Amino acid sequence: MTTGMQVSVVGCGYLGAVLAAVLAEQGNQVIGLDVDDAKVPQLNSGIPPFFEPEFESVLQRSLATGNLSFTTDPTKLSASEIVFICVGTPQLDGGAADLSQLWRAADAIAPYLSETAVVVGRSTVPVGTAAKLEQRLNQKSGHNFQLAWNPEFLREGHAINDTRLPDRIVIGSNDINAISKIKEIYQPQLANQVPFLVMDVPTAELVKVSANAFLATKISFINAISEVADIAGADIVALAEAIGLDPRIGNKFLAAGVGFGGGCLPKDIRAFIASSQEIGAGEAMQFLVEVDRINLRQRDRVVRLAKSQLGDLTGKKVVVLGAAFKPNSDDVRDSPALDVANAIHQLGARVFVHDPKAIENARARFPELNYERDLTEIFKDAELVLHLTEWQQYRELDPAMLLTKVANPVIIDGRNVLDFAKWRAAGWQITGMGKRD
Ligand code: UDX
Repeated sequence: MTTGMQVSVVGCGYLGAVLAAVLAEQGNQVIGLDVDDAKVPQLNSGIPPFFEPEFESVLQRSLATGNLSFTTDPTKLSASEIVFICVGTPQLDGGAADLSQLWRAADAIAPYLSETAVVVGRSTVPVGTAAKLEQRLNQKSGHNFQLAWNPEFLREGHAINDTRLPDRIVIGSNDINAISKIKEIYQPQLANQVPFLVMDVPTAELVKVSANAFLATKISFINAISEVADIAGADIVALAEAIGLDPRIGNKFLAAGVGFGGGCLPKDIRAFIASSQEIGAGEAMQFLVEVDRINLRQRDRVVRLAKSQLGDLTGKKVVVLGAAFKPNSDDVRDSPALDVANAIHQLGARVFVHDPKAIENARARFPELNYERDLTEIFKDAELVLHLTEWQQYRELDPAMLLTKVANPVIIDGRNVLDFAKWRAAGWQITGMGKRD
């Protein structure tokens, strides 16, 4: 189904580039604007700046139809009927969100937008940001834009599907014209019965940060219980299955392990704590401080387990399976796997890291670690193996064959997904994070 509108997407990072490619795939004329003059030609040649399943083919197809182009020139936005703002809101020291990219984007585009354009924010922001952005756009343009807010919920590794067919579309706006234009652009999603929820702007801003806070809380909840399970001799995987069958709880996001990372959940809960404090609701969000603390404690827990297995780590060869913060991604931002690898390195071990996609990004962050692309070679003379990102190929490893390579057949499964019985039967000592067998 095609909608055929003139659209622009401001900020072509993870969210923006995927949105631009999918909207073009759906028949719109899309311009992606970014300030990065290395990234723009790369995108125009169909080369993704990050790994995301399916993205490369959608990008190349959309470019080939002539529906998609990327530019650094904001004057190209003058014919856009809808302008999506998708710039990053990274974390400042202290936890608050850094909104400088939003202000810069507003200043850059404001002079060139058509008076009738519908401007839609998609970045993850503290509640109240949309109102400030609207004021800034209006000051700089001399128009009277009614900024709408349309938070995104896409997961890395599933970004294309989550954009084509999200669980819901949330719109913060009380401008009938804006709402109907946004409905028009999302026609393909609406035709697939995706729920379309219209609310006021502050509620839409809060929906996004609340959803992420809830997901982070769910993971830290099960991780906290898994610490108890470890001491009590209980099994967290069996426990999670049992509580997850209650539909009020649900079985998703109950996988205990080394915890959450990435460019969203950790920074978003910290920004939520900071912005709640700013508006006088700090006490209500205090529990998120503990959610963050529990999460970071899981990384220490793996390091403690490693020390309890090997004693002094000096000079020991430790293999780390996984560098990305989760499988099917090359994103190493706040990656638990890399943090643990670095901590083990700091304790004097010789750390060798494998990842199917994230080695280059990992090397850029931690050049002092060793990286190995060969999944058999890396096991040679290993004294400890840490499984920290659950790529499918790690589940398919042959523990019997690997036994002949290593110096010491000990593995810690920081994601609780390996087949413990199989590894034990092959002669390995395997330990999980609250998982028994
Ligand atoms: C998240 C939200 O899911 C998404 O809606 C939002 O738009 C952006 O932030 P993403 O960061 O891509 O998406 O990853 P997600 O799949 O949510 O996983 C986040 C982290 O939690 C990963 O490090 C993952 O390994 C970890 N996780 C997830 C667990 O440790 N246990 C679980 O049960 C689930």
